[in-house]
Amino acid sequence: MNQQFSRQDYNDSAAAIGQQTRHLPKVALVLGSGFSDLADAIEDADILPYETIPNFPHSSVEGHQGRLVVGSLEGQSVLAMQGRVHFYEGSRLEQITFPIRAMRVLGIETLILSNAAGGLNPAFQPGELMLIEDQINLLGMVGNNPLIGPNDPDWGPRFPDMSALYDRGLRKLALSVATEMDMVLHRGVYVGLSGPAFETPAEVRFLRLLGGDATGMSTTNEALVARHCGMRVLGFSGISNSAIDTVDSDRETTYEEVLEAGKLLVPRLTALLRGILVRWDDVT
Ligand code: HPA
Repeated sequence: MNQQFSRQDYNDSAAAIGQQTRHLPKVALVLGSGFSDLADAIEDADILPYETIPNFPHSSVEGHQGRLVVGSLEGQSVLAMQGRVHFYEGSRLEQITFPIRAMRVLGIETLILSNAAGGLNPAFQPGELMLIEDQINLLGMVGNNPLIGPNDPDWGPRFPDMSALYDRGLRKLALSVATEMDMVLHRGVYVGLSGPAFETPAEVRFLRLLGGDATGMSTTNEALVARHCGMRVLGFSGISNSAIDTVDSDRETTYEEVLEAGKLLVPRLTALLRGILVRWDDVT
């Protein structure tokens, strides 16, 4: 398989970002569907539309704005991606994960991923948050892994270990902050699918049998590429709907419902992230 991007392409993008901001972030946030407004909490922000950054992919999906917001949150410099591109839009995984390596070149050490997800675990209610403890990259298990292709050892090893994909120290901090705040923070396994169709009831039951607690159409690829190039990864799923597990249900799953749940989830995730960043020195 031919690689589309060279090291130079990632360097060019990082340089373009660096030229457009005064901040030197080490923490990046990827804001998933419905989570865009979280960037409003970032102070002293420089706004960088993706069009101004070479090779950055553009999302065509509503709820994904397509810009970087670089600024300060609770005294920490952060870079937020407002909008991401998904596999179902027709992009290659190398394009989808391009920003992750560009951010690595820029100096990002920790990646905090967020997504809207369907709740597979019956105990999870829409509007609640799940800390991603681990993932099943179903897309990768059937041959669509973002690390397929020639491996540049300067990014990471050919066969990277993924036994601790989501950072233990960061997970512990997130749980401790949630407890302090009296906030429900479930723990669970995120299953990454291609979409764009939502799952059938039989697929929902299958994903549960696999050990999944929440499912969505993003995150797993970015997490793999980030870990491969040595970043620490933390991830949160906002439960936007309970996945439908029986045929002839009176309910259906809609994207409007996903965006609607975001309104409830944004203040919760913002509060949690603020709490985490306040105690950031505990983990760095
Ligand atoms: N399934 C897959 N992706 C999703 C869902 C879902 O139910 N909800 C939000 N993203």
